[in-house]
Amino acid sequence: MSETQFTPRVFSGIQPSGDLHLGNYLGALKRFADAQEQGVQSIYCMVDLHAITVPQKPDDLKRSTRELCAGFIASGIDPEKSILINQSQVPEHAQLAWIFNCVARMGWMGRMTQWKDKAGKNAEAASLGLFAYPALMAADILIYHATHVPVGEDQKQHLELTRDIAAKFNHDYGVDFFPLTEPVIEGAATRVMSLRDGSKKMSKSDPSPASRINLTDDADTIAKKFRKAKTDPDALPSEAEGLKDRPEARNLVNIYAALSDQTIDQVLAEVGGQQFGTFKPALAELAVSKLGPITAEMQRLMADETEIDRILARGAEQAREITAPILKRTYEIVGMVG
Ligand code: TYM
Repeated sequence: MSETQFTPRVFSGIQPSGDLHLGNYLGALKRFADAQEQGVQSIYCMVDLHAITVPQKPDDLKRSTRELCAGFIASGIDPEKSILINQSQVPEHAQLAWIFNCVARMGWMGRMTQWKDKAGKNAEAASLGLFAYPALMAADILIYHATHVPVGEDQKQHLELTRDIAAKFNHDYGVDFFPLTEPVIEGAATRVMSLRDGSKKMSKSDPSPASRINLTDDADTIAKKFRKAKTDPDALPSEAEGLKDRPEARNLVNIYAALSDQTIDQVLAEVGGQQFGTFKPALAELAVSKLGPITAEMQRLMADETEIDRILARGAEQAREITAPILKRTYEIVGMVG
């Protein structure tokens, strides 16, 4: 364990690569907004450098980055309270990532399940950036000496690797410089599943649009997608135990719990015994009431790109006050003249 006391600081990131979905909202954005109220300094990042590890059209990337910034703000992240940045505008992320490319081992990267899933059988054709992705992610976090990283379940392995990189750097150079960051994976919706298959996570790369609710979906689309969501024929149970071996039912109850800020038990006390024909419209109504205002606010913000760019420029300035001294000290530790 690290002996140095690091000041609590939160960091998290989201890729600007396509529409935000309910998994991003419940697993990340909503929790960031809730955490912001605890008064810990927080930095939230659009990770455009991560996005280009797979091909992106330049104009789409620009639009998605601004849209993601709008999504953060519409979900409740206040740029006056938290620092909002776009990764490429804070060059120390990429600079520290290079150092970490030289600390991390090929074998560690090769074991990442996300790499295996994304590169698939044709790893030879994948970009070098996709392979090195987790070293850049470690740099995102550690360039702030961040102590806590709220994420969904799917990022857990990358955060373990971040700790390994910090520990190896500290060990190799005989310092206690980088903190061992804590993943924060809490709440009912750290793994929102596909609406078409309860064994797969909700994801923007799923070819079926019916598998996910996008933050840009209108009320009718949301209702339709929940109505068509795969379920089993039984009524909802009154206790959590009854959701065992019912992945689709469990997923819908988890979504309901997360959207309504209740525990699974509280939800089941209310809806236990209901058929899906009753529960699904109630869930759709709840989702529309929570997501509708966010979608509208995103659209409003997107109408003024200059304002979004101003927020990001200011965020980058604030961020660099933290990142520049940490990079300078890292270079000194590593032995760079300058
Ligand atoms: P990304 O862009 O895939 O997802 C952003 C956030 O949304 C969460 N998430 C989910 N949560 C619950 N259920 C789901 N179905 C679901 N799908 C996505 C993710 O866990 C994540 O919290 N590598 C990261 C981005 C990143 C990052 C970082 C995160 C880059 N640097 C540093 C934290 C710290 C990613 O691709 O997330």
